[in-house]
Amino acid sequence: MKELVLVLDFGGQYKELIARTVRRLSVYSEIRPGSIGANEIKDLNPIGIILTGGPNSVYLPGSPKCDPEIFQLGIPILGICYGMQMMCHMLGGDVRPCEKSEYGRVKAFLKTDSVLFAGLKEDNTVLMSHTDFVYKLPDGFVSIGATADCPRAACACPSKKLYGVQFHPEVEHTDNGQKMIGNFLFNVCGAKGNYRLDDYIHTQIRQIREIVGGQKVLLALSGGVDSSVCASLLSKAIPGQLTCIFVDHGFMRQNEGDEIERVFSARKLNFIRVNAQQRFLSRLKNVTDPEEKRKIIGDEFARVFEEEAGKLGNIPFLAQGTIYPDVIESGGKLGATIKSHHNVGGLPKNLAFAQVIEPLAGLFKDEVRILGRKLGLPASITGRQPFPGPGLAIRIMGEVTQEKLEIVRKADFIMCEEIGKLKRKPQQYFAVYTGARSVGIKGDDRTYDGVIALRAVTTSDFMTCEYAPLSHQILSRISSRITREIPSVSRVVYDITSKPPATVEWE
Ligand code: XMP
Repeated sequence: MKELVLVLDFGGQYKELIARTVRRLSVYSEIRPGSIGANEIKDLNPIGIILTGGPNSVYLPGSPKCDPEIFQLGIPILGICYGMQMMCHMLGGDVRPCEKSEYGRVKAFLKTDSVLFAGLKEDNTVLMSHTDFVYKLPDGFVSIGATADCPRAACACPSKKLYGVQFHPEVEHTDNGQKMIGNFLFNVCGAKGNYRLDDYIHTQIRQIREIVGGQKVLLALSGGVDSSVCASLLSKAIPGQLTCIFVDHGFMRQNEGDEIERVFSARKLNFIRVNAQQRFLSRLKNVTDPEEKRKIIGDEFARVFEEEAGKLGNIPFLAQGTIYPDVIESGGKLGATIKSHHNVGGLPKNLAFAQVIEPLAGLFKDEVRILGRKLGLPASITGRQPFPGPGLAIRIMGEVTQEKLEIVRKADFIMCEEIGKLKRKPQQYFAVYTGARSVGIKGDDRTYDGVIALRAVTTSDFMTCEYAPLSHQILSRISSRITREIPSVSRVVYDITSKPPATVEWE
């Protein structure tokens, strides 16, 4: 039987990280709203519950609370940060503002005779980030950890299998955090750890076959990780019944379009590449406003897709590479492989598909990459960094022309090639055609040529980011290659802005 651990969301920024850590420990997990009722939880029959952190103070009116009944279900619970404070508050403890808030890595002294900390050292560095603390524990609870400023940094009521930690075991900054979560799963919840991605593949293949039968499926393939893995899974489940339309708008990175064609033409699916570069370029003539560019590209994409789909006749199913975080964010129903078709991002609203198939809707991004590798996709696709739908067009300031595209594509290629040699790469990196010109000197001649900006960011969710502290050596290497290999570029600059106030992309 499948073991499930529920992660109840109280607004903490690490909810996905918690759920992913649990899955990495081979226990299936799902995120649900913190307000879920105890009866619904009973129906789901989880082996354990984790309450996430959150930005609120539990003693203030209106702060989120779980259904109090969940503490009576006999299901093991681990409260993290706000989750611990809420559990203590609701069970009769006392939570108050800290005299001294703790932020960052601090030393904690843990009682290693508690099952939660079994196998750890007594002093352990943990990540703290709190302005409230548990002043008094509820009856039946004992403290199992403390820091210099927080005497109840962890607590337990072993008879009821209730545990709490004020710190964040899910983040890398807490030493042995994964081991602590593992202790909760295996020592407290009694998990067997039977969640395997291979099972996910088999279940999806069976479900897709049941749903689709002998009918046909259409997929808009962008070449990004999600749609590529979706295409591979479907080609395995229903060989010969899937048609992929790859609209090449001409704004892809160097060799990308050909690589996508090479990989997917070799699979058991009908691959259609539409070379629509000229159509897109002519619609973007004289357009300089970023939003207008995006709208035109989206609109043209929809038109091309619709025209091509129209040529194929009636195809009842549309497949999409929606992944689990998209489902959580949109507040949609979880776990459903199929839902009725509303508006598919970027696709025409009036496309008459009976049903939409989303076979990756239960997976996190890193799991999608692993799945892709299991399905035989090359690392050049499964390891791909995020790339915006409008592609290089929004990395060219001002009007998009063939000439500028060639310049930014070449600069991007050089940057990717050099950064590709690094062991630890930033999460996203690319070149931007700034539209600025500057005076330079090549040989004995004065030049007045283009300026390329380099952007590289570190981030966990792309909602915020820091610029990556690339070494001067690598920046110099990229800069000298770009100015040497691209004659019309005379200057290279490095973008050192975080998000906010900037965004990752320039447009
Ligand atoms: P921003 O620029 O909003 O980007 O900070 C955050 C992340 O989203 C990517 N991005 C897009 N992805 N279609 C996409 O599929 C788009 O139109 C788009 N615009 C930005 C961006 O590359 C970064 O990873």
